[in-house]
Amino acid sequence: MTSEFDDSFKELEQSVMEDMRRVYTEKTIDHFLNPRNLGEIQAPDGFGSVTGPCGDTLEICLRVNNRRIMNTTFWTDGCGASIASGSMVTELIKGKSLAEAQRITQDDILNALGGLPEESLHCALLGANTLKEAIRDYLACEKEPWKRAYRR
Ligand code: FES
Repeated sequence: MTSEFDDSFKELEQSVMEDMRRVYTEKTIDHFLNPRNLGEIQAPDGFGSVTGPCGDTLEICLRVNNRRIMNTTFWTDGCGASIASGSMVTELIKGKSLAEAQRITQDDILNALGGLPEESLHCALLGANTLKEAIRDYLACEKEPWKRAYRR
């Protein structure tokens, strides 16, 4: 038996989903609602944290072995599109060499998500920039490992 509350909750849920489908692709909604690789890696080999012009922050952790990304996680306090971008970019780089990951761009993330609305394009750029920052951090610590201890 369903209560009136359950029925109105279901209606509200359906209407929210319909609104989302008008704006975002199914792939984006899936990554937004079921983010992959959400969380953090303790003492990561590479770490990037970038705050975009919108004020939202995305963080990416890398576990690297033999210059290959063995594991990666993300965290964000941003919008749904930034969650989808963080989720997708971590999926795109898992198992890739650092050289391959370095070539991932905003467009690669957008293509993988099936596009984002104009006003959310910068959320994918935030994903690409944070990845670059995490790789830069890995390379800096590889050159001067003592720097890792002073990392935030
Ligand atoms: Fe800030 Fe999407 S609005 S990352």
